[in-house]
Amino acid sequence: MRTSAGTDKDNTILRVENLRTYFKAGQGNVVKAVEGVNFSLRRGMVLGIIGESGSGKSVTARSILRIIESPGYIAGGKILFKGEDVLSFSEKKMRSIRGNEISMIFQEPTTSLNPFMTIGDHLMEAYNSHTPSGSEKAKEEALRALHLVGINNGREIFRKFPCQFSAGFRQRIFIAMSMILYPDVLIADEPTTSLGITIQAEIIAALSEVQKQTGISIIIITHDFGVVSQFSDDIFVMYAGRCVESSPKKTLLTKPAHPYTIGLIRSVPLLEERKTRRVKSIPGFPPDMSNVPPGCPFAPRCEFAGSVCTEEVPELREVGEGHLCACHYPQDYNVNDDTELGGDLHV
Ligand SMILES: Nc1ncnc2c1ncn2[C@@H]1O[C@H](COP(=O)(O)OP(=O)(O)O)[C@@H](O)[C@H]1O
Ligand SMILES: [Mg+2]
Repeated sequence: MRTSAGTDKDNTILRVENLRTYFKAGQGNVVKAVEGVNFSLRRGMVLGIIGESGSGKSVTARSILRIIESPGYIAGGKILFKGEDVLSFSEKKMRSIRGNEISMIFQEPTTSLNPFMTIGDHLMEAYNSHTPSGSEKAKEEALRALHLVGINNGREIFRKFPCQFSAGFRQRIFIAMSMILYPDVLIADEPTTSLGITIQAEIIAALSEVQKQTGISIIIITHDFGVVSQFSDDIFVMYAGRCVESSPKKTLLTKPAHPYTIGLIRSVPLLEERKTRRVKSIPGFPPDMSNVPPGCPFAPRCEFAGSVCTEEVPELREVGEGHLCACHYPQDYNVNDDTELGGDLHV
């Protein structure tokens, strides 16, 4: 495994500062998909990014790898990888970083496995894309990567095709492909979303094992609190293209301060035996991203909103140690005191 150069003092491998990514939407309109996002990924840690669909999670991830397609563009901010701003890199340098130093498992099915290529060819191609070398070496590395995700019969499956395997198994092959060059950072965008609950647990276990064995830093993107609660060290909550709250996992899951985070936690699906209790879903919908209202974008859905909330965008402020919240009225809420809470979070 490569040892990372360029450590910075606070052990941060990737820091995103005030990232803004927009899409031109015709007639002079701009969709501000990511509007001032800030977060840090600590070396060897797992950062969970959570938010409803459309909140800008995938656009944030794609911005890090600079794969935003037209009419999208990065309008500002910094993406500091090992202390250097990715936004200042040449395209050539970016190509050497993608897959090799920062790799990504994509959410979109368009990037799924090629049905006409064998599993072995997929893995060897992923290896040779950055490190052209003999097929023996590539094969050896492919088997090692499969082993990493718990697939120990690599030789047997090498000549098989993707359609011969289940969705969960194919996802593990994806993880193996994204790990084959031992990157420093893995971004997994909704890696469990279309999978059943048992397979979800298997994928999280595989990622967790990869993390333990390699010490890689992981960003896991999801709209499922169950997933981040099982797997993250730190959590960052997105709403309408912004960071609304971030903290170490335990703080966020036991003492969330932002009304949106509290709403998300209160709407975690109930356990079987608690199904008789009511799930409190957040009323209303996220804003239209081409027309976000002034002030706090969550204000129209927020039971605590005052007049300031519809006028001023709240800044991300420290409300506790390592706990940041962008709210004019951060809440003093304790999950353990909430008798109506029925969800099952692994704190
Ligand atoms: N290719 C695109 N063209 C225009 N707008 C886009 C495009 N991709 C994303 N967006 C906008 O960015 C917002 C955030 O998208 P995305 O990051 O995919 O959300 P999610 O949090 O579900 O991953 C969407 O609501 C959409 O308005
Ligand atoms: Mg997405």
